[in-house]
Amino acid sequence: MAQEVTIHDKTFVPYITTEEIAERIADMAAQINADYAGRNPLLIAILNGSFIFAADLFRGLTIDAGISFVKLASYLGTSSTGKVVTAIGMDANLTDRHIIIVEDIVDTGKTLHEFLPEIYGRNPASVSIATFLTKPSALKYEDVKAKYTAFEIENKFVVGYGLDYDGYGRNLPCLYILKG
Ligand code: XMP
Ligand code: MG
Repeated sequence: MAQEVTIHDKTFVPYITTEEIAERIADMAAQINADYAGRNPLLIAILNGSFIFAADLFRGLTIDAGISFVKLASYLGTSSTGKVVTAIGMDANLTDRHIIIVEDIVDTGKTLHEFLPEIYGRNPASVSIATFLTKPSALKYEDVKAKYTAFEIENKFVVGYGLDYDGYGRNLPCLYILKG
């Protein structure tokens, strides 16, 4: 088993192994292959955190499928619209496409709650969410329901497999959780 790691002021301990991750993602890919056969889905992976998960999930797909990457930026809109999330680099045409949003983690659900209208506004045929992690006890936005989840975890900070703490830890091959 891997050792604990320290990033800046925090110590993290091994939580989910690379083998367990590979197994769950293979299962998820198989499910998507079955659900989306003949529908040519378009995966939209949200950078930066999802890039490793997206790469592994996408390689598990044997059906026709595309992938595109976006980065989200949030700013304050007018008082009526509140916070607005825009996608940077969303060049794909979503009209009549079956969209699968690929996220690293759904925590409160706020990010996807704000991003989903942007997707629906582009006339997709359908929209679903595939996330590596969810923290069910932290979810506040009930409209954010992941169709595919690799792991439901406790409400503690995690790093590794694409997820970072203050810019570090993304390259750790398995998932680590805050110690204590
Ligand atoms: P919300 O609350 O909008 O959060 O669903 C989603 C985003 O918050 C970040 N996040 C984390 N990043 N370890 C991380 O490295 C965590 O435990 C964690 N929890 C939330 C992440 O960027 C995610 O997209
Ligand atoms: Mg993220």
